[in-house]
Amino acid sequence: MTKKAADTPAVVVPKGIRKGLTNYGDTGFSLFLRKAFIKGAGYTDEALDRTIVGIANTGSGYNPCHGNAPQLIEAVKRGVMMAGGLAIDFPTISVAESFSTPTSMYLRNLMSMDTEEMIRAQPMDAVVLIGGCDKTVPAQLMGAASANVPTIQLITGSMLTGGHRGVRVGACTDCRRYWGQFRGQEIDEQEINEVNSKLVASVGTCSVMGTASTMACLGEAMGIVMPGGASPPAVTSDRIRIAELTGKQAVEMARSGLTPDKILTAKAFENALRVLLAIGGSTNGIVHLTAIAGRMGFDIDLEAFDRMSRETPVLVDLKPSGQHYMEDLHRAGGLQTVLHALRPLLHLDALTVTGRTLGEELDDVPVFSQDVVRSFADPIYPAGGIAFLRGNLAPEGAIIKQSAADPRLMEHEGRAVVFENSEDMALRIDDPELDVNADDILVLKNIGPVGAPGMPEAGYLPIPKKLARAGVKDMVRISDGRMSGTAAGTIVLHVTPEAAKGGPLALVQSGDRIRLSVAERSIELKVSDEELARRRALWQQPQPVDAERGYRKLFYEQITQADKGCDFEFLRPPAMRAKVPEDR
Ligand code: FES
Repeated sequence: MTKKAADTPAVVVPKGIRKGLTNYGDTGFSLFLRKAFIKGAGYTDEALDRTIVGIANTGSGYNPCHGNAPQLIEAVKRGVMMAGGLAIDFPTISVAESFSTPTSMYLRNLMSMDTEEMIRAQPMDAVVLIGGCDKTVPAQLMGAASANVPTIQLITGSMLTGGHRGVRVGACTDCRRYWGQFRGQEIDEQEINEVNSKLVASVGTCSVMGTASTMACLGEAMGIVMPGGASPPAVTSDRIRIAELTGKQAVEMARSGLTPDKILTAKAFENALRVLLAIGGSTNGIVHLTAIAGRMGFDIDLEAFDRMSRETPVLVDLKPSGQHYMEDLHRAGGLQTVLHALRPLLHLDALTVTGRTLGEELDDVPVFSQDVVRSFADPIYPAGGIAFLRGNLAPEGAIIKQSAADPRLMEHEGRAVVFENSEDMALRIDDPELDVNADDILVLKNIGPVGAPGMPEAGYLPIPKKLARAGVKDMVRISDGRMSGTAAGTIVLHVTPEAAKGGPLALVQSGDRIRLSVAERSIELKVSDEELARRRALWQQPQPVDAERGYRKLFYEQITQADKGCDFEFLRPPAMRAKVPEDR
């Protein structure tokens, strides 16, 4: 040993209550003060010497999807105690889908910043993130990926299904189905009010394979959720048990130093993409995965993802692509049954929060007969749920959820009926004088990341009332926005670049011809280059609204397009490491 090495004291990384001391210029005093204050809440020195697990509490009266947060926190704390740790819960922003204006997506990045900074600022050796409603899980995982403290995601779980006049119903595929029937005058006002009380039978997240369920499944596929943790419904004992196990495991992760960078690897993201396709997952899943992967330095290669899509059938028979609900998937073995079926296509050596590999976890999974997860020989849809499109209308791409589209419309050419923005659509879509027929293609501009702002789920354009009343159920619809994972239809989304940034979508006019070919993965505007150049010379960029100060100013300055996950530019690493999936 050299003299220098012998003289250099080992660097002790502070843990537990000693971690991240407040800067008063005197570390001894900082610790003294911190302990004095927390002792005011009745803690002993013995408790404060333990490994600390923070619990991000996203319970909120405005978020019924997280209505079981108090029970989950209690169970996590029990698990942490059982493993010899100390659990401390703390609040962060909670974002509920239908309680956020202009849209929950506008707030996702704010929640990710809150989560990242509170994990970093407060003393914790590991963190349990309680999330569930659509944007909360991606926001938390984006924040956790950047903070890189041992992290385990706990899902709040899906709501129970309800019943309406003898028919099983659940949010929110059935919300849209009944609303469509009401618009088409198939049901009256009394019935639509009646069903409104039946669609959501308990607290918890939407009961179909919408964005919340998709993100829960992707979390488990990436190994950042406890095995079996995606599917238990919110109000079941299984959900509470997963919470207890999550708390226990968080202590183990703190002790072993199992940080997100060891779990959220390129292989984990590729596994998640595979699962997204096989579950018929929400199109939002691709935006959120892109954002989470971006935080870890990975770009999602959408062309390669599309090649994966051609070899990955939809196996899960859940609405909106199929017929069942999340509680049925849980009874069928949950995501583990899906992972088992996909085993030959997965990276089994990817690490999970248990410290074991995905393959090791799957070795212990019982296989039994059930009717929710199909085999490769008998899929719900022969290819992956999502297809990636390109063309002169979407030079940087667009996507379509082909498993939830009308097969008759997937090869279609039609006349564009254009709405300049959401307000224009709201004003005119139900006008009896609107020049529209069932073969037309509805185009909605300016609902992209910048345009709305926040890329709202307005891409599910309603069928014009006069056509709905004539029995039209689906039309080709195109926008630069998103749609709810619970929605279905022949709907082209995430057109990039968006109209508000001058993408070709901005130049489309009513009467233009548009051709969609899902088989060729193309979306083409059949207008000459000369005419498009003429229109571009006349185009005026819409001005941002209320963008002078605050979060909205930051949002407009930093928001990226869908192909970068709509993350803020300054939250992404300065350089990307690799593409996912690797070249196929
Ligand atoms: Fe929260 Fe659907 S509204 S999960």
